[in-house]
Amino acid sequence: MNPLKIAIVGATGAVGAELIKLLEKSHIPVSQLGLIASSRSAGRQIAFRGGAWPVDVIESAGNTTFDMAFFSAGGAISLEWAPRFAASGALVIDNSNAFRMNPDVPLLVPQVNPCVLTSRPDCGIVANPNCSTIQLVRAIRPLVQVLAIRQIVLTTYQAASGGGLRGINELLTGSKGVLDGTDEPSSERFPVALAFNVIPQVGEFSADGATLEERKLIQESRKIFSLSELKLTATCVRVPVTNGHSEAVYIEFREHVSLNNVRELLARERGIQLYDNASCRPYPTPRLLQNHGDVHVGRIRVNPDDGRGLWMWVVANNLHVGAALNAVQIAELAVSNRLVGAI
Ligand SMILES: NC(=O)c1ccc[n+]([C@@H]2O[C@H](COP(=O)([O-])OP(=O)(O)OC[C@H]3O[C@@H](n4cnc5c(N)ncnc54)[C@H](OP(=O)(O)O)[C@@H]3O)[C@@H](O)[C@H]2O)c1
Repeated sequence: MNPLKIAIVGATGAVGAELIKLLEKSHIPVSQLGLIASSRSAGRQIAFRGGAWPVDVIESAGNTTFDMAFFSAGGAISLEWAPRFAASGALVIDNSNAFRMNPDVPLLVPQVNPCVLTSRPDCGIVANPNCSTIQLVRAIRPLVQVLAIRQIVLTTYQAASGGGLRGINELLTGSKGVLDGTDEPSSERFPVALAFNVIPQVGEFSADGATLEERKLIQESRKIFSLSELKLTATCVRVPVTNGHSEAVYIEFREHVSLNNVRELLARERGIQLYDNASCRPYPTPRLLQNHGDVHVGRIRVNPDDGRGLWMWVVANNLHVGAALNAVQIAELAVSNRLVGAI
């Protein structure tokens, strides 16, 4: 195929930096890289495949026609600019929550619902789900496919990097301030200071008491599985971990469930790493993850008081699995389905 002109909007952010690294290693041929950020970063140079590419503001880069554009600069930028890039011919892969629930926009996790990208969407936009949704749906896909589910109840333990580079910096600076005894930690990126703390709020509250992150998990999971009746309820919690989201997931099935059957189903799934008490790896933790493209599942156990209930502990690198890798895998799927560029 002909090399592609690719834009990365939000190239200097936490997700953008991961995207550049993954795109560099991918087999997608690139003839031009449009790196876009705010005016604060304009003029910076970023290395890519042996060259150095300048960072530009979106108003100037918007004059170029791209084959593909990754958006990772927040919902407001996506809402304003993604349709313009798409109208000028780019296939847009959007990491924000701007279009995820738009019925005309495919919401795609390549390991779970690749069939939604067999043709190019008319609007030219494909949405990447929320980070906590991606690791959940990848972990439960083999079970949802063959076992009848009554409901899913989960609690998330979400890292500071979910709040971008500013989130990571706030956690590190705040922790140092507490340890040095010099400073009270600040709370600009999170509702209250995260250092040495746990915050049961990710995103704004709605009238029913749920947060935006909790609503995203429910709505996006239903859309990805095409199961509008899927019963799922969540509490999303921010924890003082720099990177890597964890989830305690309780699945209540309609029938009794066999632990061996569940383990076999999960073991067969590509991209899932299993942990158990019998091995030297009893469970995954966010800081010690080895393979950053996988979803790591441990503490799998049937509820002794109700044989229809199953617990799992699910950990993944949110910047990687939950954002950049999923986006690059969408791009690779689009390329292999011949939906971008002149082949
Ligand atoms: N972090 C995650 O785990 C995660 C997971 C899934 C999805 N997402 C989504 O991905 C997006 C980016 O998140 P992030 O964590 O990478 O945030 P981040 O670290 O704060 O990065 C934000 C990026 O947007 C750029 N930007 C800000 N204002 C801009 C403007 N006016 N024009 C062009 N670029 C602008 C920033 O440029 P400067 O460096 O110049 O400020 C930076 O490159 C968000 O929509 C987020 O919801 C994040």
